[in-house]
Amino acid sequence: MNSECSERFYSMKQNLIFTNDVEAAVEQLKARIDHNLAVWIADVNTERLLFALPNLITINDGERAKSWETVRNVWLEMEHAGVTRHSLVFNLGGGMVTDLGGFAAATFKRGVRFINVPTTLLGAVDAAVGGKTGFNFCGLKNEIGTFAPASDVIISTRFFDTLPPEEMKSGFAEVIKHAMLSDRGEFLRLLDHDFAAPIDHDDLLERLRRSVQVKADIVDRDPNEQGERKALNLGHTIGHAFESLAMSGYEAVPHGYAVAWGLVTEAILSHIKLGFPSEDVHRLGHFVRDNYRGFPFDCGDYDELLDLMSHDKKSRDGEITCTLLATIGDYRIDQTVTTDEVTTALDILRDHLGL
Ligand code: GLY
Repeated sequence: MNSECSERFYSMKQNLIFTNDVEAAVEQLKARIDHNLAVWIADVNTERLLFALPNLITINDGERAKSWETVRNVWLEMEHAGVTRHSLVFNLGGGMVTDLGGFAAATFKRGVRFINVPTTLLGAVDAAVGGKTGFNFCGLKNEIGTFAPASDVIISTRFFDTLPPEEMKSGFAEVIKHAMLSDRGEFLRLLDHDFAAPIDHDDLLERLRRSVQVKADIVDRDPNEQGERKALNLGHTIGHAFESLAMSGYEAVPHGYAVAWGLVTEAILSHIKLGFPSEDVHRLGHFVRDNYRGFPFDCGDYDELLDLMSHDKKSRDGEITCTLLATIGDYRIDQTVTTDEVTTALDILRDHLGL
């Protein structure tokens, strides 16, 4: 890479701290990092999850609040609190808080150091790590944003006891995705997971450590998604189409449920195109059928699904493009699939899900 190019790329090296003593980790960071002021951004649900937060900026929760108006209010509160480039911003919450808070911090006075403390499994395993920040605009998700990494991310399972089961399952789909990109032993182990059992915090923290490292390594090699980072979109070309279809014609589904169906469909496509082992397709299919309740789509929905896939922002020139696998851990980005191949894969998916 020539020097002109390398200057444009951020290093995404992030300090990842895995602990269930979040307060101690916060105090250690504050003692280690020279700063004049620490402020916290949290939403109305997450502001209660840690000790009484000093200099708290509270925002509303949910996708509707992930807006320009909220960013503006956060900047105003930072201004009033006296935040400078020498300050620290802590983002405490799910992906909405870490995306929006990260954007507000990264752009305030051209950049204030920020630290993410994700409180959901989905946030911990995906949104809080890797430097994608932003907010929704003109009805489009994450339309405005920038690549800007949190300097540190404190990853903990201690907030998960009170998460609704759908939230846990939603995040777990991304954990499975990371295992599919890296390690068959871990993939099989995850498929033994029992969502009805109480959380084993030590084990889950270890699963998170492995999972987040997969993402962090890929992001380090390709921070701005010019190539390899597209691997992290495994399951998402088809998953986003399910998410949009559910939103328009059925009951909305959690993001990770749509990703879980996307993972099975893309595993089937991987089998068709690259010989991905059918045994692993079946194991994944059974786990998803048992844990991720589907909505009853049928072949009458295929045209809309195909249309959504070809308009996905990851696709080019109206072609459907996904990341596929030759085997677990052997991923191939920018794979074009035909409408016939997708139609076959959707038929097989419906068999797996019993639809
Ligand atoms: N969520 C995928 C990525 O951060 O690239």
